[in-house]
Amino acid sequence: MTQMHIHPSDLNVFRTILGDAYVLTDEESRTSHAQDQTEDLVYLPEVVLRPRTPEEISLILKHCNQQNIPVTTRGGGTGLSGGALPVNGGVVLAMSRFNQILEIDERNLQATVEPGVITQVFQEAVIEKGLFYPPDPSSRGTCFIGGNLAHCSGGPRAVKYGVTRDYVLDLEVVLASGDIIRTGAKVLKNSTGYNLTQLLVGSEGTLGVITKVVFKLLPYPRLNKVLLAPFRSPLDACAAVSAIFREGIIPSALEFMERDAIDWTLHFRSDINIQLGDEEQAHLLIEVDGNDEETILKDIERIVPVLEAHHCMDILFAESEAQKTDLWKLRRSVAEAVKSNSTYKEEDTVVPRAELPVLLAGVKEIGAKYGFKSVCYGHAGDGNLHVNIIKGNMSEAAWKEDVTNGIRELFTLVVSLGGTLSGEHGIGLVQQPYMPIAFSPVQLDLMRGIKQVFDPKGILNPGKIFNV
Ligand code: LAC
Ligand code: ZN
Repeated sequence: MTQMHIHPSDLNVFRTILGDAYVLTDEESRTSHAQDQTEDLVYLPEVVLRPRTPEEISLILKHCNQQNIPVTTRGGGTGLSGGALPVNGGVVLAMSRFNQILEIDERNLQATVEPGVITQVFQEAVIEKGLFYPPDPSSRGTCFIGGNLAHCSGGPRAVKYGVTRDYVLDLEVVLASGDIIRTGAKVLKNSTGYNLTQLLVGSEGTLGVITKVVFKLLPYPRLNKVLLAPFRSPLDACAAVSAIFREGIIPSALEFMERDAIDWTLHFRSDINIQLGDEEQAHLLIEVDGNDEETILKDIERIVPVLEAHHCMDILFAESEAQKTDLWKLRRSVAEAVKSNSTYKEEDTVVPRAELPVLLAGVKEIGAKYGFKSVCYGHAGDGNLHVNIIKGNMSEAAWKEDVTNGIRELFTLVVSLGGTLSGEHGIGLVQQPYMPIAFSPVQLDLMRGIKQVFDPKGILNPGKIFNV
């Protein structure tokens, strides 16, 4: 049992700030804010607060700072590294009432958004104006912009268009002290002092609470083509990835899926109509987009020989929008399908993309050595491989010890290849023990120093990223 932080007098303060309806202490509210999508981990908050304005958050943080109450900010609860888990109890700050798109500025191709807006809702709102917000995590139908900012989410289209941070121009942030600041400006170039905006993006709620974001947008690319290329050898599929870029083409998505990932997903979702041949052991899902049909076709014509040179089998070219939707449904449902099958640990490895075959071979060798099965898939074009380590009927002892040792070896391999621990899921709670594999004590001390400046009492999302 963790130490209790909240007393009746604290609840009275919160009720004065928010009104009774938004201070939730009942069992059901606490339970529904005790988990995200990470493994089977559960940490109950003592109270759930549902603020609506930065000023309310400011008053809450001032009080919590004074009383040493932990505050864990929560978005859609779809995280895979435990970032939203209130490991020390205290307050969960649920951001769901910050759900307004405040402005879509068509003159400047920018938008001002609150962090509780669902990512897909925002994407669809800007598409209506012919504009494009590319970051598209698989959870986009339920995840929040705020969570995307906290972990710097990516998704399939990051390979051409970049990740969340590449679209952030300015943030409004409430600090642990209660001060409300802006970090940037509504400009595309900014060489003005330290870049606090980019420091906050990816800081997982440990430095402040984001209450507003200004994004830059792109014109929406109207056309795309999608294909699914099967391979007998997963290593051949991985090797084809960097060869496509060397051919001078940047696809708008280049995803890898092992056979198991597809089989489990087709089993999980009977509404997807895709048939696989027996010998197909891995697939690349490739999308090329743009505004000119001929250019897209020319790119595809250059990709096909590269795939063939890597021994691909019969390529499926999506012929209709429905088929494209099915292929994307398949890809976007993998994580959920794996989770429905077994408890698993999701490692979000990322290496320079040409090293992908070495990484995949290493994952399988390490699995054999430590006795675990893995299902691998992910954003191959970014060198970002999601390694799902399956618990199945492993003993608790093996799950805790052998798998942890295996992950340690996996991350050591990743770093030796020039990669790092997480491409888009963040460090959160569960990857925190592995940080010393990627960072020296000097680097970790620098990060701790930054944390100390922003949050001297350590109330903001304690226990995440590194041990303070
Ligand atoms: C995906 C999530 C798990 O790529 O990152 O599906
Ligand atoms: Zn992903």
